[in-house]
Amino acid sequence: MKICMIGTGYVGLVSGACFADLGNNVYCVDKNQDKIDLLNSGEIPIYEPGLTEIVKKNFLSHRLKFTSDLSKAVRSSDIIFICVGTPTSKKNKSADLTFVFNVAKEISKHINKFKIIVTKSTVPVATGDKIEKIISKSINKKLFEVVSNPEFLREGEAIRDFRYPDRIVIGCKNKKIIKKMESLYEPLIKKGATFFSTNRRGAEMIKYASNAFLATKISYINEIANFCEKTGVNVEDVSLGMGLDKRIGSRFLRAGPAYGGSCFPKDTKAITVTADTFKSNLTIIKSVIKSNFNRRMLLIKRIERILSKKLKNQKITILGVTFKPNTDDMRESTSLLMIPYLNKKRAKITYYDPSGQKDEFDKLKNVLFNNDLVDACSNADLIVIHTEWDEFKSLDFKKICKNKHLKIYDMRNLYSVKKMKKLGLNYHSIGR
Ligand SMILES: NC(=O)c1ccc[n+]([C@@H]2O[C@H](COP(=O)([O-])OP(=O)(O)OC[C@H]3O[C@@H](n4cnc5c(N)ncnc54)[C@H](O)[C@@H]3O)[C@@H](O)[C@H]2O)c1
Repeated sequence: MKICMIGTGYVGLVSGACFADLGNNVYCVDKNQDKIDLLNSGEIPIYEPGLTEIVKKNFLSHRLKFTSDLSKAVRSSDIIFICVGTPTSKKNKSADLTFVFNVAKEISKHINKFKIIVTKSTVPVATGDKIEKIISKSINKKLFEVVSNPEFLREGEAIRDFRYPDRIVIGCKNKKIIKKMESLYEPLIKKGATFFSTNRRGAEMIKYASNAFLATKISYINEIANFCEKTGVNVEDVSLGMGLDKRIGSRFLRAGPAYGGSCFPKDTKAITVTADTFKSNLTIIKSVIKSNFNRRMLLIKRIERILSKKLKNQKITILGVTFKPNTDDMRESTSLLMIPYLNKKRAKITYYDPSGQKDEFDKLKNVLFNNDLVDACSNADLIVIHTEWDEFKSLDFKKICKNKHLKIYDMRNLYSVKKMKKLGLNYHSIGR
């Protein structure tokens, strides 16, 4: 099929490349010319395992094209995916739909024959209705159909998630269009993905309700971890014991820092604001947002306690600053609060992240990036494991750090408390 992805970010680039890999002809469009130039020169602007190979293969076979020419891409495609960002609005914490509506206006200028216009961006319930209204201002309704197809891929696992999704959700009531979408996804359905169609508002709601539920699960176990710390219970045992119940499930039940990233924080806020406009009070999700907000400071205060409240001149090494491993995405990472806070208290920060140096910390005095993990740790007073990259999972702390009084704060519970104690290390973790 001939398709185009408008917005070549984490979602547009991954799904565009993967659709091309399934044999479709795909245009990836972005208004950011630098990004398009980079992609056309064979470089990948984001860190996503496995993506480079798929992009390269399909680019060379001319199934995957990169352009900033939206007109050409729309005119030559039958299915148009909107994959632009929907960040938190500065005004009221709802989803800022400016990018989505601008794209809808742009598309409407170039509709030359029937088009299926699909929102892959995460958009509040009833946004599809608004997109339809915008396009129908200049185009006859018979010439297009607006469909919702929320994306559930996770950064760091995006290729696998695209190829083996649990479900493909389509929001549309037109049987012919549903069939067309089903045939686009047929290779994935054949491999076991469930194809589920509902109305457009239903699909939009499914995405937000899913993200808010996962965020709730994380906040829930994080609060239980706080309780475990007060009662001498190991939260890992609690997660395991709970997760064995099939009604609960073990995933997203790992205690750690506040949830971050480009989706959960913004989507939990957006769903509550949208619900408020429909006069529906989502009290559970509102308290999850509050709990998560408080957690960021709670863990920072723990760092202060570990260092007996004397942060000045303490050498703190942070391992991992992205919100999760296998991504370079810094959006809403708790490190964005933690590092400036510790820096303000005049601690000396060194950070290491496998995805490289981050602009966000460049202007902070006494915050240094070290691209060598061992060197970054060699003189630390405190090592904080913030992100669970694989390379942090079997460190020989005694070997990599010369300081006999080294303290370790493992925010991801990567190490056994028993083993660390046996090694004589001053080790702190979460909920145990
Ligand atoms: N990142 C994820 O893991 C993930 C997962 C599921 C769903 N989503 C949702 O998908 C959407 C996109 O997220 P993302 O992380 O890929 O965003 P992103 O910020 O990485 O990419 C968005 C891209 O859209 C481009 N863009 C904006 N306006 C444009 C226009 N008028 N024409 C062409 N390009 C334009 C931007 O330049 C940018 O490159 C969001 O709604 C997000 O909530 C994201």
